[in-house]
Amino acid sequence: MRAAYHESQGALDVLRVGELPDPDPGLGDVLIRVKATSMDRVDVYWREGSHGMKLRWPQHVGGRDIAGVVESVGSQVTTVAVGDRVVASGERTHATLALAPEELVFPLPGGVSFEAGGATPTAGRSAHQALIEKAQIQSGETVLVMAAGSGVGSFGIQIARAMGCRVIATAGTAEKRARAMELGAELAINHYHDDIVAAVRGATDGRGVDVVLDHVGTPVFAAAVRSLAAEGRFVTCGVTAGHIGELHLGQLFVKGITLMGVGRPDNQRIAATMRGLLGMIDQGQVAPAIAAVFGLEEIAEAHRLMESSEFFGKIVLTP
Ligand SMILES: NC(=O)c1ccc[n+]([C@@H]2O[C@H](COP(=O)([O-])OP(=O)(O)OC[C@H]3O[C@@H](n4cnc5c(N)ncnc54)[C@H](OP(=O)(O)O)[C@@H]3O)[C@@H](O)[C@H]2O)c1
Repeated sequence: MRAAYHESQGALDVLRVGELPDPDPGLGDVLIRVKATSMDRVDVYWREGSHGMKLRWPQHVGGRDIAGVVESVGSQVTTVAVGDRVVASGERTHATLALAPEELVFPLPGGVSFEAGGATPTAGRSAHQALIEKAQIQSGETVLVMAAGSGVGSFGIQIARAMGCRVIATAGTAEKRARAMELGAELAINHYHDDIVAAVRGATDGRGVDVVLDHVGTPVFAAAVRSLAAEGRFVTCGVTAGHIGELHLGQLFVKGITLMGVGRPDNQRIAATMRGLLGMIDQGQVAPAIAAVFGLEEIAEAHRLMESSEFFGKIVLTP
């Protein structure tokens, strides 16, 4: 198979594109010809060696998301057949072929492109898990989505809107804030220059939001907690800009705040999340925001764009 990989960690020049052995499906695995996959911020961490990422394979192939056509199946696979158009959560997906366990392979909804499917699983399910399974958002609640231009944030706005919530978003540029409003946010705050807490209180009659979805970490943590209303819930699924936060325990107990993380759900829970998310996409309530599409040979350009943060939504690769 052809794959984008790196054998060491560092700057963009460690990235290679070349031939690697085809993956060997286990009894319960599905081998998929990848039509589209995508970048997640963690692919940059793996390449840089930041955020504690240590290489586990001689050739590290990035990516987890797959949209494609089933090439072959392990002998114990019963629900997926050769030729099926699928969307899946796998590993080492920045390649022409990739594996996923049968329980994480789903039919690609009719009318959904391979690019949209390949942009969905990791960022979409993290936002879905955080908002629906963990924070249990309810219709009529107000949700603050941090860094709306991220993969997670762009799904988060739409999922919250689909559940009948009001959404306030943050983003670093005017263009991203405009896109956040187009996706359904009623207010978009500059998370570098605006007073987030004041803006949230201004938009909520001083009450604050019911839920904060965060994945930025340190720079916004204090503002996130202070933006919460009484009995508010803070849920995190990432620490892009720092993992240490200072917490005012007095606010926590007086306001009855709950702090939670998405954790590492097992495949059964991931599958349930994916079915819910794909249902929303099938019904047109959520549409992956695709920022750019690159070929596999352009992997360094894809990493460069992700590193720059000058994009809104998901960066897709079409191997
Ligand atoms: N738990 C999981 O399973 C899971 C799954 C998916 C993602 N994640 C994590 O979630 C995070 C987001 O992933 P992604 O792929 O969606 O990322 P992404 O698309 O690369 O977006 C990163 C965002 O971080 C924002 N940002 C960076 N520094 C910031 C700062 N100092 N203050 C405020 N915002 C800042 C940027 O916003 P601006 O450019 O607008 O400033 C950018 O939109 C990552 O940490 C990732 O590892 C976890």
